[in-house]
Formats: sequence, C-alpha cells, structure tokens
Amino acid sequence: MTYAGSTSATNQKDLRSPTQETQASTFLSISDDVLLGEQVKLAKFINLYGCSIGDYTKIGAFVEVQRDVTIGRNCKISSHTFVCEGVSIGDNCFIGHGVMFINDRFPCSVNASGALASLEDWEHRFVRTQIGREVSIGTNATIMGGITVGDGAYIGAGSVVTKDIPAGQVWVGNPARYLREVKIAADGSKS
Ligand SMILES: CC(C)(COP(=O)(O)OP(=O)(O)OC[C@H]1O[C@@H](n2cnc3c(N)ncnc32)[C@H](O)[C@@H]1OP(=O)(O)O)[C@@H](O)C(=O)NCCC(=O)NCCS
Repeated sequence: MTYAGSTSATNQKDLRSPTQETQASTFLSISDDVLLGEQVKLAKFINLYGCSIGDYTKIGAFVEVQRDVTIGRNCKISSHTFVCEGVSIGDNCFIGHGVMFINDRFPCSVNASGALASLEDWEHRFVRTQIGREVSIGTNATIMGGITVGDGAYIGAGSVVTKDIPAGQVWVGNPARYLREVKIAADGSKS
C-alpha cells in the first residue's frame, strides 16, 4: 500500500497529456491520509478521505468514500455510490451504481440545544457495516447500518437491506428477503 496522490497520479500519467492530467487531479479530491493500493483506478469527480483502498480496485465517477472505511483488493465500486464512515468491504466485491451505506439510524440536523449537530452528538448512534468477500450489491441498493453481509452474497437492485445476510445467499426487495442460494457453475462463475 502506498499513500495517495502519488499512486493515483502515477496510474493515470501515462495515458494523459499534461493538460488532461492537470484536469484529472483537479477533479479528484483525495486527502493525504488516504491509503491507495497498487494500480488503483480512479475516475474523475471522486472524494476520498481517511480510507484505505486495496490493490487493483476500480472506483467510478461521483463516488465518495469517507474516513474509517476499508475497501479490499479487486473491487469495482460503480459511479454515484456513497460509502460512509465505518464500512468495511472485502476483496473482489462488486458494488453497483448509486449504492448507499448508512451509519446513523436516527440522524438529526441539530442537537438538543438547537445547534448544528456535530460528531459528539451522534457518535453514540454510530454503527458499522461489514461486507464480506466476493459480495455483489445491485444498483441503487441501500444497506442499513450495523449490517453484516456474508461472503459471496448477492443483493438485488433497489433492495433495502435491514438484516444480516448469510454467505452465499441472494436477497432482494424492500425490505430485502431471502430469494435463493447463489449458483456456482462448473467453471466457477456465479449467478
Ligand atoms: C437479484 C438478482 C440477481 C436475481 O436474479 P434472478 O435470480 O434471475 O431473479 P428472477 O428475475 O428470476 O426473479 C425471481 C423473483 O425475484 C424478484 N426479483 C428479482 N430481482 C429483484 C430485485 N432486484 N428486487 C426485488 N425483487 C426482485 C422477481 O420479481 C421474482 O419474483 P417472483 O418470483 O415473485 O416473480 C437480479 O434480479 C438483480 O437484481 N441483479 C442485480 C443487477 C444489477 O444491479 N446490476 C448492476 C450492474 S448493471
């Protein structure tokens, strides 16, 4: 793992003219505390801070990854996804477009005194989410906070996940319910 800025810029450098390269870094917001693995691929308009991204992982446009997030190797994080503080995603995961994670089940704009809420006002409600290895999350799914998704699980497009999902199962709907077991073909491909 290496620190940000260097790796992302190096990955894109060979493919771009100086003007394009300048634009690319302008459109990326990556704080100095981000840990980027080898050959991480970043689209434009990405906001990363305080997180760790594993080797070869690819992140699409308009994705935000907050602090205290770990994303494993060989993941695909599709555009418009929001990965909030406290989420851990294992290796080889597919995260579809516009997938939303949650870490506060009772969010408030202001505290009991009427002032804008700060970290101290909500950290007692903060909940973590654990996504296992080789999980696939369909477009526009919402993963409620405090959830554990087992290895190899599939989550259907548009699902709202309110309960833990065991390994190797397909869940769909709002609220998400068990549909079936994941099928593994002779060549190892899954569906
Ligand atoms: C979850 C999924 C893998 C299930 O596929 P499948 O096993 O072929 O499911 P089927 O199409 O046979 O549908 C089985 C049942 O589940 C329902 N269903 C399927 N996907 C659903 C979803 N996302 N949400 C709610 N219900 C769903 C179907 O309506 C059907 O219900 P019925 O038996 O009452 O008629 C697939 O539908 C899906 O959502 N994939 C994610 C695709 C995606 O987001 N890709 C992102 C990159 S393009």
